[in-house]
Amino acid sequence: MTVSESDHLDVERIREDFPILDREFDGTPLVYLDNGATSQKPDQVIDAISEYYRTYNANVHRGLHHLSQEASIAYEEAHDTVADFIGAEGREEIVFTKNTTESENLVAYAWGLRELGPGDEVVLTEMEHHASLVTWQQICERTGAEDKYIRIDDEGRLDMDHARELITDDTQMVSAVHVSNTLGTINPVSELADIAHDHDAYIFVDGAQSVPTRPVDVQAIDADFLAFSGHKMCGPTGSGVLYGKRHLLEEMEPFLYGGDMIEKVTFEESRWNELPWKFEAGTPNIAQGIGLAEACDYLDDIGMESIARHENELAQYALERFAEFDDVETFGPPVGEKRGGLVSFNIDSVHAHDLSSIINDYAVAIRAGDHCTQPLHDKLGVAATARASFYIYNTREEIDVLIDAIDDARQIFG
Ligand SMILES: Cc1ncc(COP(=O)(O)O)c(C=O)c1O
Repeated sequence: MTVSESDHLDVERIREDFPILDREFDGTPLVYLDNGATSQKPDQVIDAISEYYRTYNANVHRGLHHLSQEASIAYEEAHDTVADFIGAEGREEIVFTKNTTESENLVAYAWGLRELGPGDEVVLTEMEHHASLVTWQQICERTGAEDKYIRIDDEGRLDMDHARELITDDTQMVSAVHVSNTLGTINPVSELADIAHDHDAYIFVDGAQSVPTRPVDVQAIDADFLAFSGHKMCGPTGSGVLYGKRHLLEEMEPFLYGGDMIEKVTFEESRWNELPWKFEAGTPNIAQGIGLAEACDYLDDIGMESIARHENELAQYALERFAEFDDVETFGPPVGEKRGGLVSFNIDSVHAHDLSSIINDYAVAIRAGDHCTQPLHDKLGVAATARASFYIYNTREEIDVLIDAIDDARQIFG
């Protein structure tokens, strides 16, 4: 199946795969613009999960019976599919976790707690999601290391001069979000990786908003670690990934202990299993892993380049529409500059929460709040923003519906 038409997505065709998009509320069709929080799931993914439960449900790695063998093969091959999807060398570099947050914590605990100490520094950006910001903040507090933040400019771009100033020989880890979930900024992570590596530091890339929406090749970026969540890319909840360079994962101690992650256990000591199982203790999210692999195949068939173009086009269109109104403030790079498929905005007279609740009456789903970037919102001088975030099945017409709904909210609030 190829659903992209040269450089444009065949959105009408794609929408047929998503049963939830047919929903109506009081006769009004759903307009789902909350994809930054989680995407909808196509039939192909729902069917793959359902087929596992219906026909070969069993625990993996433990049984010699047919069902367990089938489940084990499917689960292990899911790691291969994900490895291909992000250009990793093989399944050894792909650890299944439950989400981006767990992947961040895995590295922070397994690597950070052992390697960091007083005098060491972790460099983050001012636009980090709490998943990385809070995690590294805590690890720094526990180890005596210091966390530092690369500034952003007035249009939400990373100040690379400041990055070069902050990243020094004291830096042990740079943790940077690839695409900001609040600003839509696409950060130059491969440039950051070069700077980090020049100082013998590692780079952890938060790919939660980038892997679902554009081609991401971990070797091209030269990421040491990269995390993302399956549920934001047509996969099920409970499916997350930590990519790590093989030699780094080999050197690291496990994060969680227990069954499956061991090779040999005696009363005296235990030896760890080979990669990636060393980091997957206990019964994993089998159905979710299988569903995630199906989601990777689904997105691959559409074409990640086409998806990135579609995302950018919708964001540009939304920015242009918002620019028609004097009372709307948008955040992040201005119209004309490439960005991720989301726009955060505020309207002078209407609080973001009120706005999101009123436009829900029009069956338009957006998000309001701090989007797990409270320090960034403090910096922007706002307590909350509304955010419309787009995906492969969204259209310009849906953005028009959003704009009309906002107009009505404006009338209500005078
Ligand atoms: C940039 C970014 N990082 C991390 C996360 C955390 O993802 P999860 O909640 O799936 O762990 C999100 C989720 O919104 C995100 O947008």
